Amino acid sequence: MSLSIPVLLGTARDGASSDAAAAYVAKLLAVRGVETQVIDPADYHEKKTFEQEHVKPWADIMKAADALIIVTPEYNHGYPGPLKEMLDTLYDEFARKPVAVCGVSAGGLGGARVVEQVKLVTIELHMCPIRESVYFSGCRTLFNADGTITDPSYDDRCGKMFEELFWYTNALKAGREGKVGI
Ligand SMILES: Cc1cc2nc3c(=O)[nH]c(=O)nc-3n(C[C@H](O)[C@H](O)[C@H](O)COP(=O)(O)O)c2cc1C
Repeated sequence: MSLSIPVLLGTARDGASSDAAAAYVAKLLAVRGVETQVIDPADYHEKKTFEQEHVKPWADIMKAADALIIVTPEYNHGYPGPLKEMLDTLYDEFARKPVAVCGVSAGGLGGARVVEQVKLVTIELHMCPIRESVYFSGCRTLFNADGTITDPSYDDRCGKMFEELFWYTNALKAGREGKVGI
């Protein structure tokens, strides 16, 4: 059975470069036979409340997911509010699932500071953040208009992150399903 790993976009900003980075990560996952989709906080964050009815699609996706990848820009050295809202909305759906966090920035650090902060938040949600991350720096010129990437080394960087994420995904899935003696 194929793995299900949605990609949560970290921003609801119109015209954000992170859209292209999230779509790129999802495409590389799909090529590897992973069932995936990009979750856009804009589809949720304009709702007035986070009542169950409004967030049900997001809850259903995360409940069925085996892992999560977050692709987020860094805003003032922290995480965008819409990303935090998406994480604060659910709880049980995240538990004991691995998460990889990718940063996006126009500068050279690729969102390194936001990646660290988001990993701390995911621990409180009972997720298992993995060490490997991809840092999309210089994002304003990194993607062509058609979404293709100008620096092919990112294919390999994502591949290394996926390899580690898939290991944890399979191990924790077996654990959640009671297939290992723990
Ligand atoms: C409100 C705001 C705060 C930002 N703060 C940072 C920052 O702390 N560090 C950084 O590297 N880039 C920062 N940027 C620039 C982003 O790197 C840049 O917008 C880049 O395109 C990624 O964000 P995007 O997905 O919204 O486009 C900020 C951008 C905005 C809109």
